[in-house]
Amino acid sequence: MTYEPTVFADMAGRTVAVTGAARGIGEAHVLALVRNGVNVVAGDLDEEAMADTAKRLGEECRGGATIVPMGIDVTRAEDHHALAQHALERFGTLDGWINNAGRYALGDVLETSGAEFTRMHEVHVLGASFGVQAAVPAMGKSGGAIVNVASIAAYVVRARSGAYSASKAAVEHLTKFQAVELGPRGVRVNAVAPGMIDTDMLSSLNGGNGMPQSAVESVPLRRIGTPGEVSDTVLFLLSDASRFVTGHTLVVDGGGRHR
Ligand SMILES: NC(=O)c1ccc[n+]([C@@H]2O[C@H](COP(=O)([O-])OP(=O)(O)OC[C@H]3O[C@@H](n4cnc5c(N)ncnc54)[C@H](O)[C@@H]3O)[C@@H](O)[C@H]2O)c1
Repeated sequence: MTYEPTVFADMAGRTVAVTGAARGIGEAHVLALVRNGVNVVAGDLDEEAMADTAKRLGEECRGGATIVPMGIDVTRAEDHHALAQHALERFGTLDGWINNAGRYALGDVLETSGAEFTRMHEVHVLGASFGVQAAVPAMGKSGGAIVNVASIAAYVVRARSGAYSASKAAVEHLTKFQAVELGPRGVRVNAVAPGMIDTDMLSSLNGGNGMPQSAVESVPLRRIGTPGEVSDTVLFLLSDASRFVTGHTLVVDGGGRHR
C-alpha cells in the first residue's frame, strides 16, 4: 500500500479495535492508525491472513504503536468481547472501535435463500451491534468513538444486491440509535458509506477483472476510490476533529450515489 495517511495529532497513544482487518479497507484502517501512533487490536475471520498483515504493517508503526492480531468471527458476541479484553490487557485502554468486517454476494430477490439473508444480516447488523456492546463497557467512563462501515448500497439500488444492501441500510439506521443512546455516556457513533473502492470485494463482483469503464464513468470524480480514502474519513470520525459529530453517515463515493 503506497498512500500516506492523514495525521490527526490527538490520536497518538490511543487504542482502537478494527474488525475485518486482514485486507482491503480494514487493512488500510490499521495502516492509518499505526501511522498515527495508535495501538491496534485487529481481528479477522481469516486468522492466518490477519497475522501476515499485522507482521507486514508492523514496519509502518510510528510513535511506539503496536498491532495485536486475532482470529475473530464478528457474528459471535464473545469474539468481540475477547477483542476488547485484549485491548485492555495489552494497552490498558480502549478509545475507538471500527466495525468494518463485511461480505458480499449477488442474488436475485426471488432466489436469495434465507440462509444468505441471515448470513448478511449476521455479519453486518449483528456484527455492528455486538461490536458496540463489547466496546462501550471497555471504554469505561472516558467514553470513545465508534465507526460502522456501511455502504452507498444503503441508499442506491443496484441489481442483484438486495440482501447486502438491506443489511447495510440497517447498519446505517442502527448507527443513529447507537449514537442517541450512547451519547450521554460520552460515546460517539458514526458510519461511513463507501462507494466503489478498489479491494478484493469489489473485484470479485466482476470476476477479478476490475470495474467496467461504464461503472467508472458513472462516478463524478471519474475513478473508483482507494481503501486509504475511506480510512482517512474513518480517522476523522474517530479523532477529536469530529468531537461534535455523532449519528452521522459520511459518504465516501466520489459523488457516485448522485448518478
Ligand atoms: N470495496 C467496496 O467497494 C466497498 C463498498 C462499500 C462498502 N464496503 C464495505 O467495507 C468493508 C470492507 O470491505 P472490503 O472491500 O475491504 O472487503 P474485503 O472482502 O476485501 O475484506 C473484508 C474482510 O472482512 C473479513 N470478514 C468477513 N466476514 C467476517 C466475519 N464474520 N468475521 C470477521 N471478519 C470477517 C474478511 O475475512 C476480509 O478480510 C465491508 O463492510 C464492506 O461491505 C466495501
